[in-house]
Amino acid sequence: MNTIFDTRRYLIPFRTGLLPQIFCDTLVLGSGVAGLRSAIGAAKSGQVIVCAKESLDLTNTAWAQGGIAGVLSPDDSIEDHINDTTTAGAGLCDPQAVRLICEQGPDRIKEIIDWGMAFDRNADGSLRAGREGGHNSSRIYHAGGDATGVELQRTLIDKAASHEHIRLFDHCFVIDLLTHSNEPGSPVLGAMTWHPKYGLQVIWARTTILAMGGSGQVYRETSNPRVATADGIAMAYRAGAQIADMEFIQFHPTTLYIPGAARALISEAVRGEGAYLLDHAGHRFMPAIHELAELAPRDVVASAIVRQLAIQGGKHVWLDCRHIEGFKARFPGIHSTLDSFGLDPSKDLVPVHPAAHYTIGGVRTDLGTRTNLPNLLAVGEVSCTGLHGANRLASNSLLEGLVMGAIAGDEAANRSDTSPVSPGSIVSMIEHSNHAELDLDDVRSSLRSTMWYNAGIERTLTKLDDACDMFDLWGRYTLDKIFETPEGWEVQNMLAVGALIARAALSREHSIGTHTLANAPEPSPMNEHPEHPTPRQHTIWTRGASTPTFTRTLAQLETTNPNPITIHIEPSAKPGVSKN
Ligand code: SIN
Repeated sequence: MNTIFDTRRYLIPFRTGLLPQIFCDTLVLGSGVAGLRSAIGAAKSGQVIVCAKESLDLTNTAWAQGGIAGVLSPDDSIEDHINDTTTAGAGLCDPQAVRLICEQGPDRIKEIIDWGMAFDRNADGSLRAGREGGHNSSRIYHAGGDATGVELQRTLIDKAASHEHIRLFDHCFVIDLLTHSNEPGSPVLGAMTWHPKYGLQVIWARTTILAMGGSGQVYRETSNPRVATADGIAMAYRAGAQIADMEFIQFHPTTLYIPGAARALISEAVRGEGAYLLDHAGHRFMPAIHELAELAPRDVVASAIVRQLAIQGGKHVWLDCRHIEGFKARFPGIHSTLDSFGLDPSKDLVPVHPAAHYTIGGVRTDLGTRTNLPNLLAVGEVSCTGLHGANRLASNSLLEGLVMGAIAGDEAANRSDTSPVSPGSIVSMIEHSNHAELDLDDVRSSLRSTMWYNAGIERTLTKLDDACDMFDLWGRYTLDKIFETPEGWEVQNMLAVGALIARAALSREHSIGTHTLANAPEPSPMNEHPEHPTPRQHTIWTRGASTPTFTRTLAQLETTNPNPITIHIEPSAKPGVSKN
């Protein structure tokens, strides 16, 4: 059987002793906001390597059109930011994580301004604060109108690239985390990577920081870049990390719907500027659904569009921006995307459709970014701190990446002078499968369609159950294969994480936050049940367990070994030196 419960420990066979080896103090996997901010902190003490799957700036961070939320105005308060975050999170936010991130946010924003990030400013030079859905105060800071992510990514790449202790590896595909043994709770010792030119390489590290982003690509419709194939969550799961709250996927109501083109995000801020959603007959449908009309919470707008499509039978609804003055100046990036498809928002209606946008669940961490595996920290979208609860407040994710990235960096820097343990040799033995050859493109597109129709915006227990059965079957002849390139590893990762999302969603038998179930039974908030979480409990999955466990807090993480376990960086093995 190769189901998600019983997945292989490693995707490929190897003997580390026969491969080129690289040594560092801190290995950061991922080059978005959380990864780069971690790397900059870790480099205060010790040598750091950052691995990016493709180019350094192909990240969800760089694609962010929203801003960074933070309390910088005397008219606003941390308590209000905490309240807005908690309200959006539908009662499932971890209060300690929310407080920590809201409190530390302002300092992190000031810090990146000092590092050269050019936020949008008012005529008097003060920072221009905007408002987005769910925020009761103007506390969102943008750059370049709709290009906050691009500017944040540029600032952090510049800062990291100029640091003498940081090396940036691009096009470095991470296949798996290396653990001391295959036993649950075994310490992480680095990662097995693959480069199109150099092939397999082992990178040993005292501390590994997982910052590999989310899983948008497991859905047929997504606002995420092609690299978001859930690799980080899948490899952490294989290594024995606890994976929390995977049923919560945030769907964005408006991505550009042009068949054949990637689904480009059309920011909520466009509706904030007054854009209307129209059905095929040209009528606004949101005012009849919610008092905030087009500015209702994201899950409400996304569900309304799905229902509208079911009624009218079309492939998209329209976004009407024709009355918005100065669209090009306010949204230069979106304008240019529309222009590239021959659309002029001052004259044309824009075809839009919802899409998977943000993975709320992920690798469970405590407030110090520690996972249940010694030496493994996790930050950003790949992690689950409990900040977002069951639904993420707009513009809180870049904030989380900055704050938790700084905490992870400090944690790693503090570990860089530790007692010696040799990394030793790790061997992965896998039998070749005698199952049929696969059409990988077909598996990939089938699983993405299944996720969209069976585990998408509006779910039913029957459809989720069907998806779980399909993934168990597909897993038997896909997860036992040995692939030699990223195309195969990505499909294996997407299948494992798609199954985790469907399983977690099936276990939660009531609607909450982004998890919308048709015909759901009424939740019983207090009565704990062995197979289903209450609305106040998080779901946790771990490799080898066929059922989830439930917990009321993510922050109090019990590790099998709470102390860092250290590896010896041999004096002769300077970072970057390959040893055969
Ligand atoms: C948007 O601009 O609509 C997305 C912002 C976010 O996801 O935080």
